[in-house]
Amino acid sequence: MTKILAIETSCDETAAAVVADGQHILANVVASQIDIHRRYGGVFPEVASRQHVLAINTVIQDAMTESRIAWSELDAVAVTYGPGLSGSLLVGVNTAKGIALAQEIPLIGVNHLEGHLYSNWLAVEGEIAEKDEPPEIIFPALGLIVSGGHTELVLLRGHHDYQILGRTIDDAAGEAFDKAARLMGLGYPGGPAIQKAAAAGNPNAFKLPRAKTKRPYDFSFSGLKTAVLRVVQRYVDQLTRPSDVAQETVAAANMPVENLAASTQMAIVDALVAKTKAAAEAFAVKEVLISGGVSANALLRRQMSARISQPVRYPPLHLCTDNAAMIGAAAHWLYGAGLLADWDLDVVPNLKLGAG
Ligand code: KG4
Ligand code: ZN
Repeated sequence: MTKILAIETSCDETAAAVVADGQHILANVVASQIDIHRRYGGVFPEVASRQHVLAINTVIQDAMTESRIAWSELDAVAVTYGPGLSGSLLVGVNTAKGIALAQEIPLIGVNHLEGHLYSNWLAVEGEIAEKDEPPEIIFPALGLIVSGGHTELVLLRGHHDYQILGRTIDDAAGEAFDKAARLMGLGYPGGPAIQKAAAAGNPNAFKLPRAKTKRPYDFSFSGLKTAVLRVVQRYVDQLTRPSDVAQETVAAANMPVENLAASTQMAIVDALVAKTKAAAEAFAVKEVLISGGVSANALLRRQMSARISQPVRYPPLHLCTDNAAMIGAAAHWLYGAGLLADWDLDVVPNLKLGAG
């Protein structure tokens, strides 16, 4: 059995996990900075890297304790080296190098996006099967990664064999949720806040655009953001550019927040489902894998499963947002293929999927 310690510090979660054979989580620890960043309405890079430095040793120690294995039983240490914030990534990469040197075990560099894809193949007790039974890995599969920083449609022909079919040409899906929420006075992170407000709203109350893109599997959400701004401007005077709207202002303006949230959520979900369904059919995939923070969205899950004929898989909610278990899962197959990192492994903030 291969046991890998994985570290993830690409954005605002400091995370460490121990994963066995790529599918069994022995430990999964996440220290979220969300409360700190909420005060600023988003992630501040300097604040994020400082928090990683403060949290990383405890998080790794906690993961090792939770895993009940000894340091000497580890086969390798894996770390996210991109994409992400360079200062944040550096904390993880340098820590992983230190551990690899001290323990005399191989170092594995993992693409964060590859991690999200593999989050769907982790065995989760009680969620996927009664026992800790791992799901079967089936190719070809179609992956949709939807997070605060990414919206990518990926064809998976095998392990490490990816073809990017499309991606967002402007805002990421999570970013669209976050920006729209700020305009509606719903705060950060926007996705969960919009989902909550939308529960009491009518998704057809406002006509919001579903963007057409030049390439068939690309996405675009900036037009939606502008459309939401125009609606807000109808209710709130003197709002000329996208910025935070205070909740009191929205309430005083009598803005129908629930309806606008429901319409926005439907517009984003609709665009994601339509392109994913088209790609799933065109490439005749056997399975569809949704991942990333936005895959926690309940409407997205319902619509994907209802409209796509192939089986659609989602990670359990706690594995949708950034975590290290998914990094350990992806690392297992890199380890098996001998794709190890050298000591000069550097962070690559704009790393693409399939770029090695
Ligand atoms: O994957 P993630 O934790 O971090 C990134 O790598 O970006 O994703 C965070 C994003 C945020 O934009 C957040 O608003 C969105 O995921 N999100 C949601 C939901 N939960 C989180 N979006 C829609 N519905 C949700 N329930
Ligand atoms: Zn992520």
